[in-house]
Amino acid sequence: MTIQWFPGHMAKARREVSEKLKFVDIVFELIDARLPLSSRNPMLDQIVQQKPRLILLNKSDLADINQTNQWLNYFRDQGHQVLALTAKDDKSVKQIVPASKKVLAEKIARDKDRGVKPRAIRAMVLGIPNVGKSTLLNHLAGKKIASTGNRPGVTKGQQWLRFGTQLELLDTPGILWPKFEDPAVGKKLALTGAIKDDLLHLDDLALYQLEIFCRYYPEQLKDRYKLTNEDLFLDFPELLMLISEKRGFRDDYERASEMLILELRQGKLGRYTLDRFEELSE
Ligand code: G4P
Repeated sequence: MTIQWFPGHMAKARREVSEKLKFVDIVFELIDARLPLSSRNPMLDQIVQQKPRLILLNKSDLADINQTNQWLNYFRDQGHQVLALTAKDDKSVKQIVPASKKVLAEKIARDKDRGVKPRAIRAMVLGIPNVGKSTLLNHLAGKKIASTGNRPGVTKGQQWLRFGTQLELLDTPGILWPKFEDPAVGKKLALTGAIKDDLLHLDDLALYQLEIFCRYYPEQLKDRYKLTNEDLFLDFPELLMLISEKRGFRDDYERASEMLILELRQGKLGRYTLDRFEELSE
């Protein structure tokens, strides 16, 4: 389910997150490892301000490993603690407590010096829709929690979920809006399923997908659709036509586009990252 973000929703979401921040020691900013820039909320720094933060590049099982390593360094260079995460995987999720302790090392040392009895770290999960907030909460809590339905403000009062003795989490994540202004960002978010694709033309999205894969992942594209090296020199609409024929859709490009996007989302084209680190440096 995807929420339509109007200015009123954004103001409300921001207010709710700001209120919840008061209760926590640390924020877990969840972003999609395939979209380390596009899946961040544009106002996050302003909203979170000085609150300690751990950045989690989630869905790292779907992302291009080389790119993820470069993005991890990028965030570290900015002074952030950051982890590549797979929220579906308990082993991966277990890295969160030690990483949180690193973020809060000074506070923990200060409390110890003052003789304050150690208590569990209190955290909240924050991110745009579809980055895996509920999945992470479920895995941390070890049980299925109620789905938030990606709508801000569905529960009242603070409920805490316990992860062992060392971590407590607000049971509802903070849901913030994505960046919409840049059309390329919109396409990337739609391709990964973060925003509704009925806002965009399917064939535009599929052509964009082909452009990215021809440029960065040609072997994965060739393998999946039994293409030759020469095929990759076709222009993108021709390539879409060819794939459509190969799959028996003939000139039904809408169906071929739908299939391409679905297969991308199902991971059938292999790992990929849409926000390219090298484009940032350019
Ligand atoms: P949200 O609360 O931030 O909106 O996201 P949510 O947890 O609902 O996750 C959105 C989709 O992303 C879900 O897939 C979820 O399974 C998937 N997901 C979350 N974390 C990971 C991860 O680390 N790796 C992979 N591969 N997928 C992840 P879905 O198809 O919408 O639902 P489902 O059929 O999996 O339940």
